Amino acid sequence: MKTYFNNIAGIPEIIEEIKKVTGFLWEKGWAERNAGNLSYNITDIAQEYIEFLDFETPVKSGKPFPNLDNNLLLVTGTGTRMRDVFKNPYNNICILHIVENGTAYRQFQKPESGIKILPTSELSSHLAIHEMLVANNREEKVIIHTHPNNLIALTHIREFCDEDRINNMLWSIQPETRVFIHEGIGFVHYLQTGSDDLADATIGKLKKHRVALWEKHGCLAIGKNPAEAFDLIDIAEKSADIFFICKSAGYKAEGISKKNLDELQQAFNIE
Ligand code: 13P
Ligand code: ZN
Repeated sequence: MKTYFNNIAGIPEIIEEIKKVTGFLWEKGWAERNAGNLSYNITDIAQEYIEFLDFETPVKSGKPFPNLDNNLLLVTGTGTRMRDVFKNPYNNICILHIVENGTAYRQFQKPESGIKILPTSELSSHLAIHEMLVANNREEKVIIHTHPNNLIALTHIREFCDEDRINNMLWSIQPETRVFIHEGIGFVHYLQTGSDDLADATIGKLKKHRVALWEKHGCLAIGKNPAEAFDLIDIAEKSADIFFICKSAGYKAEGISKKNLDELQQAFNIE
């Protein structure tokens, strides 16, 4: 029995979640041209339908991702605009089935669109992160990478290219950042976009963090759903924004005092 992807129970809702968040990324001004990408591990809801879907011949994935074998991932296409993913998700997202013990992936054929989309150039990072999430039975299924202006600007300031310093500053700007990003963001020093080195460094950070900041490039977050990943970046970006608003007005942000931050830590049971 042939199955149409969008008829699988749960898929239209997932597509709606992706639409909403990719629309936000564009509206926020974090998604110039094709900036950013998103992936969603939909194995739980779609695996039983794999045999009824039409896939192309497998492509080798470079590195092996054994824990992803037989997983199904939605991944935005390389070169696609977030505003277009929002308008027409089915023509801007690839569906990848990981095969051959995690050494290859095959792409869902979409004859109705006639447009061939290839997966994001950051596929190395997306696959490596999903591999780590599955291997550790983590609940996060979504990865968002985007280019938030103020967070990127901070990484052009030497003083903040330091994990402790940038986290202490971001936490001190507003209570939400301390509460909702209590483990802080992981700082990844500049590495070539799309490279395995960037993927490896990001994995290292995501073992303890849910947000990684790529120096002079952008930000990446993981979440149980697109909204959760988006919120983390949005909160961190808000801190950075307020920091620069004070600076532009000619003031240095005073920051929440150590005493108040300690009280917050106690009140919210932050380790
Ligand atoms: P893609 O269009 O290949 O997803 O690249 C966008 C990007 O932000 C690369 O870091
Ligand atoms: Zn990028």
